[in-house]
Amino acid sequence: MRLHALASLLGLCSFATASQLRPRDYQSQDYYVLQLDSNIAPSQVALSLGLTHEGQLGELADHHIFSCEKQEDDIVHTALKERRRRKREIGGSDILDNVRLARKQKLKPRMEKRGVLPPPPAGYASPVQRQAPPPEDAAVAKQKEVMKALEISDPIFNEQWHLYNPVQVGHDVNVTDVWMQGITGHNATVAIVDDGLDMYSDDLKDNYFQEGSYDFNDHTEEPKPRLSDDRHGTRCAGEVSAVKNNVCGVGVAWDSKIAGIRILSKLITDADEAIAMNYAYQRNQIYSCSWGPPDDGRSMDAPGILIKRAMLNAVQNGRQGLGSIYVFASGNGAANEDNCNFDGYTNSIYSITVGAIDRKGLHPYYSEHCSAQLVVTYSSGSGDAIHTTDVGTNQCYSGHGGTSAAAPLAAGIFALVLQIRPDLSWRDMQYLVLMTALPIDLDTGEWQTTTIGRKFSHTFGYGKIDTWATIEAAKTFKNVKPQAWYYSPWIHVNQTIPQGDEGLSVSFEVTKQMLQEANLERLEHVTVTMNVEHGRRGDISVDLISPDNLVSHLSVTRRLDNAPEGYVDWTFMSVVHWGEAGIGKWTIVVKDTMVNEFNGTFTDWHLKLWGESIDASKAVQLPLPSDEDDDDHDAIASSTTTIMASTTPVAPAPSKTSILVNPTDHPDRPTKPTAPVEEEETAAPTVEPSPTGSPAAATSSPSTWIPSFVPTFGIGHKARVWILGAVGLILAFCIGLGIYLFMARRKRLRNNPRDEWEFDLLEEDEADGLNGAGKTTRGGKGGKRRAGELYDAFAAGSEDESDGDFDDEGGDEQEKKLYEDDESEGSGSALRSPSHHVIGDLDSDDEDSIVGEKARK
Ligand SMILES: *[C@@H]1O[C@H](CO)[C@@H](O)[C@H](O)[C@H]1NC(C)=O
Ligand SMILES: *[C@@H]1O[C@H](CO)[C@@H](O)[C@H](O)[C@H]1NC(C)=O
Ligand SMILES: *[C@@H]1O[C@H](CO)[C@@H](O)[C@H](O)[C@H]1NC(C)=O
Ligand SMILES: *[C@@H]1O[C@H](CO)[C@@H](O)[C@H](O)[C@H]1NC(C)=O
Repeated sequence: MRLHALASLLGLCSFATASQLRPRDYQSQDYYVLQLDSNIAPSQVALSLGLTHEGQLGELADHHIFSCEKQEDDIVHTALKERRRRKREIGGSDILDNVRLARKQKLKPRMEKRGVLPPPPAGYASPVQRQAPPPEDAAVAKQKEVMKALEISDPIFNEQWHLYNPVQVGHDVNVTDVWMQGITGHNATVAIVDDGLDMYSDDLKDNYFQEGSYDFNDHTEEPKPRLSDDRHGTRCAGEVSAVKNNVCGVGVAWDSKIAGIRILSKLITDADEAIAMNYAYQRNQIYSCSWGPPDDGRSMDAPGILIKRAMLNAVQNGRQGLGSIYVFASGNGAANEDNCNFDGYTNSIYSITVGAIDRKGLHPYYSEHCSAQLVVTYSSGSGDAIHTTDVGTNQCYSGHGGTSAAAPLAAGIFALVLQIRPDLSWRDMQYLVLMTALPIDLDTGEWQTTTIGRKFSHTFGYGKIDTWATIEAAKTFKNVKPQAWYYSPWIHVNQTIPQGDEGLSVSFEVTKQMLQEANLERLEHVTVTMNVEHGRRGDISVDLISPDNLVSHLSVTRRLDNAPEGYVDWTFMSVVHWGEAGIGKWTIVVKDTMVNEFNGTFTDWHLKLWGESIDASKAVQLPLPSDEDDDDHDAIASSTTTIMASTTPVAPAPSKTSILVNPTDHPDRPTKPTAPVEEEETAAPTVEPSPTGSPAAATSSPSTWIPSFVPTFGIGHKARVWILGAVGLILAFCIGLGIYLFMARRKRLRNNPRDEWEFDLLEEDEADGLNGAGKTTRGGKGGKRRAGELYDAFAAGSEDESDGDFDDEGGDEQEKKLYEDDESEGSGSALRSPSHHVIGDLDSDDEDSIVGEKARK
């Protein structure tokens, strides 16, 4: 396939990566990430800005790292601003006009490992095992048989109840008959993104995969544990890939390769995390991530834009285009009423979110609930934990737990799947997992039967992984067609949320035609990006009710969450609606159940349906997300939208008041001719005609965009010059600087007449001038709104959401507010308390770091 060929071609170019990994010196250096037009030589930009070019940002094409001596200011920001001013006054062209995004890097606080459990809730009686019940004789006999047949002589295999449980029979991952078939992880590679991996452990060294490993904290090839508490990653690794030998136990995929990517032991930047998340992504197949924002029941954090781009890049280009498999631990904050939809990693559509159950098959108090959780598997609780490898030559550990221990176990099982089906895409894997998970605890799990006959619970996702069932299904699994998506327009609500049990409910009707135009056949993920202004975030909850009447609890109340800001462009995700057609009325119910002085307004929301395409040949790749993706709130809902106060959580029930939202049917984008010339050329012919002018036409158009030069080849009637440019890009990367510079010069000449920018610059400067006052509207969203407006002005016709699923800046924005003090006090230099959690707070003025941001060319 064309895409694949190109992806592998790109893979060849990734020789650049190794040289990228220079040590960082955060004490004395500043680092910047710049996204440049593809035809621009980074060395020239470096020259112009007085920076040193450190190399490409990992696997992200056109993104580069630059450094310079540490200084207070964001000198790139200053220079870009100055350039714009001059541009307006004098015109002409300058290499800085080719900077599409700029981010000064700051150290972000450490992610929390998911192995440390918060205290159990008050009154929680730990189900201490008075006396471990005796194993069942028949089960013990079978265990012996298995060990003999497979020649397992690992000393703690008998304790590894998660692999084979002779006490609570049936409460294990059901893997032994899979091993018996010779499926033990051959040829599969899992990377543990964590605090290191003891590659000298006798239980890991034979499976250790050096080429996939790197230490981003100490900048060495070997991700060796160095701190006293650098044990988490090694324990996780043991669960996946501990060798079948005479040391400790075995990994669930004991013949798999295991890599270590060390990021959690020191503070790093978004830039380095982005590189880490794509590290050796042609060879590392699965990335197991048992960490994330704090589980304190008050955080609401999403990864920064560079990390989001890296993750999208991974599913599009990793594993030769099949997509890296990200596995994330759901989080341990359930006792704090935390929920995995408040974490932008676990609620990403690109990650498989894994929660925990204990050895009795019960929900442990810590494992978080959410509509984005796909599946659960075994971990600590009911008096026991996971028994695995520890740091040291011959050290075992019997207390590994939390959702931290569940995610790698799942990752190991997916490695078994990849042994027999290395051709499965990242979405195939999600299908496979949810189609074969086994519902448990049917009485208390609040299970709903979904449209495709699966059962879903916010506590257990689609159930627990049954390895045997998963492998059986994998053998004959038919790959699904490429992804497609439908975006609703922004649906303005602007209504006070009544306090009490009554919710504010708003519906949006999705028609068959909309989905057809979007080339969307059946749903997988559903995301809702929304804005709510509220005096106390923890008081709010949100349900989404689908046309098939299934309910996603997108958000729940959180007693500890006092944040005075509601939701700011936050994206929630649900896997509940998997398999639905999506046609009909989607209803969102926002509630403020606490009757108190804190009240609020539901401002607007934006529904995105993701799924399988109707016509695979028409599918395209999603453009990289940008910071402003969700900023265009000017699109108005279609006339089918009604708002009603509802008393019932379920069912878009009889309305008390029914308000017809102002129907400006055509949420088409502003038509100011502001994009640079070559962008217009690229984008215009690809936008499908929208005969109806329905919201779908506008909102599904991302699927018709050219996200990169790759699909450009398919367009055919595109300006040949452009194709040449794209080819030039590849050559430039692969052959060398000479051609690179040549192309750059050529392209620049071609780009000269860009008068349209004058208009943009003016707009921007006006906004700049307004500054505080320019931070407009929709209360408290400040710079964010401002960026949105600029975005409109800049990206005419282009912006129809070059979007990932993530919330874009909501989290960042909130974090900025939350930790402003923190920031001003010693940014950059090491130890910030890990309890302070800032993600992606790299820049304070988005609008200045974005120059005509758009789908990359
Ligand atoms: C476990 O695997 C066996 C095959 O070994 C299969 O028959 C059984 O249905 C699976 N599931 C459970 C819950 O045991
Ligand atoms: C491993 O992969 C290679 C190449 O994809 C294949 O030829 C080989 O048969 C695989 N080995 C196993 C044990 O699956
Ligand atoms: C929201 O409604 C209020 C009145 O209820 C109105 O004054 C305001 O302009 C509206 N805002 C938007 C963005 O529509
Ligand atoms: C919240 O309540 C106060 C009075 O208690 C009222 O003045 C204010 O307008 C309300 N705000 C919203 C957003 O409804």
